[in-house]
Order: sequence, then C-alpha cells, then structure tokens
Amino acid sequence: MNLILYGPPGVGKTTVGKALAQKLGREFVDSDPLIEARTGLTIPEIFAHKGEAEFRRIESEVCAELGARNHLVIAPGGGAMLNPINRAALERKGVIVCLRAPLETLLNRMPDTDRPLLTDDPATKLQSLLAARQPLYDSFALRIDTDQKTIEQVVSEIENQLHPHRLEVNAPGLKHSILLGYGLLETLPDILQAHDLTGSTILVTDENIAAKIPITNYQLPVTVLPAGEQFKTLESVHTLYDAFLKQGLDRTGCVIALGGGVIGDMTGFAAATFMRGVRWANVPTTLLAMVDASLGGKTGVDLPQGKNLVGAFYPPSIVISDPLVLRTLPQAEQAAGMAEVIKHGIIDDVELFEMLERGGKFGSVNQIARAIAVKVRVVNEDPFEKGRRATLNLGHTIGHGVEAASEFRLRHGEAVAIGLVAESQLAERLGLAEGGLTDRIVRALQAAGLPVDCPGLNPVRIQTLMSSDKKKVSGKLKFALPKRIGEVVWGVEVADELLQKVIEDLVK
Ligand SMILES: NC(=O)c1ccc[n+]([C@@H]2O[C@H](COP(=O)([O-])OP(=O)(O)OC[C@H]3O[C@@H](n4cnc5c(N)ncnc54)[C@H](O)[C@@H]3O)[C@@H](O)[C@H]2O)c1
Ligand SMILES: [Zn+2]
Repeated sequence: MNLILYGPPGVGKTTVGKALAQKLGREFVDSDPLIEARTGLTIPEIFAHKGEAEFRRIESEVCAELGARNHLVIAPGGGAMLNPINRAALERKGVIVCLRAPLETLLNRMPDTDRPLLTDDPATKLQSLLAARQPLYDSFALRIDTDQKTIEQVVSEIENQLHPHRLEVNAPGLKHSILLGYGLLETLPDILQAHDLTGSTILVTDENIAAKIPITNYQLPVTVLPAGEQFKTLESVHTLYDAFLKQGLDRTGCVIALGGGVIGDMTGFAAATFMRGVRWANVPTTLLAMVDASLGGKTGVDLPQGKNLVGAFYPPSIVISDPLVLRTLPQAEQAAGMAEVIKHGIIDDVELFEMLERGGKFGSVNQIARAIAVKVRVVNEDPFEKGRRATLNLGHTIGHGVEAASEFRLRHGEAVAIGLVAESQLAERLGLAEGGLTDRIVRALQAAGLPVDCPGLNPVRIQTLMSSDKKKVSGKLKFALPKRIGEVVWGVEVADELLQKVIEDLVK
C-alpha cells in the first residue's frame, strides 16, 4: 500500500512526506522533481515553454507509474488530483491523506515562490486557488490539520490515523475479533495464518468482486457465485457444499467469505451447517457489510416467501475489513452503506451523526471503526436480541415494508433511509422524539445521497408487507424509535392509523 500526501501549496507535503517515509522505512517520491528530471526543465520552464497542458500530460504519466508501485510515500503536485484519472491511479494501491492549513499559515510556510500558478500577488491567488479546490480537499475522508503543529506531530497524527483497529465481540457464543485497517487485504494470508486459520481453505466471492480484486494473489481455491440478493438462496448454499466437498474441506479447514452482506450471510450459513460447522473468516467488501452485516454472527439465506427466513447465529473466527476495498464499490452501494452508518450514529454516536449532518466526508478507518463500535457495543450488551439489540432494527420495520413494496428495486440501505425518516416522524408524532429530529435525519441522509421518501409506492402494500415481517412479536409490530440523536428506545407499539398516516406522507 502507498501513502499519498496531498494538499494546498505550502502545506508541507514534501517535508512531512520525507519525515514520514523515514519513520516508516519507505521510499519517498515527490512527483514534481520526477517531472523535471523527465523533461530536463524546471516546472516554471515547462509551463513557460511547453504550456500547462503538456505539464499535466506528463504529470498524469508519472501518477500512473507511481500508482502501480507499492510501499511508497508519494507527494503528488498540487494540481494532480484535479484530474480524477490521476486520483484513481494513485488510489489504486494507496490511501490519500489530505493535509490542511489556513491561508496565512500556508503563505508563511511558502518560500519566495517559484510556483508558476502563484506569481504576483500570491495571497490573492492562493486564496482563490484554495476556494476553487475546497470541494476537492473536502472529498478526502482522511484529513489532517497541520496548523500550529511540528512536523513530528503531523507525522505521528498520520500514523495514528493509519493505525489498524481491533474490536471484539465478546458475548458468549458470538465471540469474534474484528480487524480493520488500510491495506489488510494485501496481507490476508498472513493474517489467516496468524489466527491459526490454516488447513484446507476455500475462498467464496461473487462475480463482481472477482473482477475487481486480484484474488488469484492469494493462491487459494475459489468459488465465484453470481452477484445479487436473488442468489442468496439454498441453491447457492448447495453449490457451496459441492465446492467444499470437492476441495476436501473438513472440520480442520476454513472458509473465507470475500464480499458484501450477501456473500457473508450465505457463506457463513454454509460454514455453519457443513459438517455441523467449519471455521470461517468474513472479509467484507461493502460499507454495509463492514459496519453491519459482518458483525454479530447472524448468517442466513432467503426463501421465496421472504428474506433471511433460514439462518443461524454462527460467528466467524475473524472479520477482516480493509477500507481500500471500497474504492471499487459503486457510488449507490456506498450510499446504501451510509444508511446503516447514519443509523449507528442515531443509536449511539452523537459526534459521528453531527459530522454527517454537516455533510462531512465519511470513509476513514477511524470513522468506520466508530460505526462498527456502535454495533459491537450493542451486540455485546444484548447478543441474542432480548432487549437493546432491537435498536439496531431502527428504520428497518418500515424499511423492510418499503423494500418489499418496491419489489426490491430499492436497495436495502435506500429502503432503510426511507424507514429512518418515517420512524423518526412516527416518534415525533407520538411525542416521543424531540421536535426537529426528523429534519436532522433527513439532512444527514440527503448529504449521503440517499432517498428520504418513496413517491408512487403503494402505501397499503408497504403496511401489509411490514406486518408479514418476521420481527413481529406475538402478532403486533414492535418498533425501535429514536427519542433524540444518541437515544433509541425499543418495543414500542404504534396505532395502525398513525402508522398509516406516516406511510401516506412517504409516498406523496
Ligand atoms: N447478517 C447480518 O447481521 C446482516 C445485517 C445487515 C444486512 N445483511 C444482509 O446483507 C445483504 C446486503 O449486503 P450488501 O449491501 O453488502 O449487498 P451485496 O453483497 O449484494 O453487495 C452489493 C453489490 O456490490 C458488489 N460489490 C461488493 N463489494 C464490491 C467491491 N468492493 N467493489 C465493487 N463491487 C462490489 C456486489 O457484487 C453486489 O453487486 C442483505 O442480504 C442483507 O440481508 C445482513
Ligand atoms: Zn440493515
């Protein structure tokens, strides 16, 4: 994995980059000197004699080459990331850390400049450059403020941000560890070995992931299933049993699920039932699976009659999450995962929710760890859903009805987003939630690109399909409802007429 330091002119990419590389024992590469070496001209000379377009062309060439290497600390030029192709090339094997500082600090730190974009009146020029690039800087989840900090402090803050996390579900019968860190997938075989997950091993994934992740690197037998919820079936599980038998898998072996919630749930169920249980490791590749589906030991498949109707509590030996795998995840899937992240914020992380409400970028390892930690805390407190675990169902009671009424055209996360809005509305109308709560939830969901209503869906069908949800307790639906951000209550019964009103508002 490469580390890429980015940010405005004067922020200290090169100085920090060199210090970081030295501390980590890595090579440091600054892209501008590489460009100069390639052309035999200084950057101002390239701009003056060949023009900016030629400079950008060579810059792209250099980004592509650096992005293909590994274990580097890279400082690309300030304009490099404006081109999404360069960004994608560098992000292919790397994590971008965006360094920041206010205008005055940047001006103070800049030597009498020979930067071609800032000659004559650097203050005004830098100010407008910062304003123009603000959305770009904001688009990086990993941002570090360097103002008033020494180089050593910035370096150790970067190290701290990159540090892997280990969380534990320690409830009896559900025990498992969660490892979360940038680049963990590169060392997957070592991690498995370190956790004694040896013996005959088989990796299960789906066709989309197999096309994106270089799984052949692992040199493991692989079973690739078709992608999609419609394949989360007993037939697919049967395909897995056949593959396990063919590979000679026995109870000393191990199954690796590499995929989203569909692959994780289904492979976990196959592992739970094959020979009355073989060990398995879950390697989630979607945001939804990282912050939700991979945690807590629930496995299962769908039946034609409904989702997740067959399953088992059967935790993996370990969950291994690498946020770098999310780079290839389509935007809509990323957003779908955000619905569960926002849900976790509402349940038990006010600060996380407030950040999302302000439209902050989510995706750094520390942020994902916070979203995971909420579910881990709740599951540890109530592993088998006798009480508080029901709060994880927030947004899901109405959400499931919406998802089914859309005939699954809406993704699970999208339906949950709509469910969160409706259930918050319900809580407000019951006088349970503080006023304005729904507006805040809507803001956070919209900032993540999620829907907050479902015009045109049939309200009666939503309500009917909700009632056939398996979470119905003794004939009456029980809701988890928010009181405020950070506090959700459960086991609430709601009058049908009120529910009907709220659902009618959703479909208008
Ligand atoms: N066990 C639990 O506690 C639990 C909790 C929540 C949800 N779930 C289950 O999770 C499932 C939904 O999970 P999901 O949203 O991850 O769906 P998914 O597994 O279908 O993945 C979504 C899509 O993204 C693709 N994909 C996955 N990783 C990718 C990557 N890195 N790059 C590119 N494409 C990638 C997949 O091929 C698929 O097309 C549902 O079946 C739901 O019931 C289970
Ligand atoms: Zn969910």
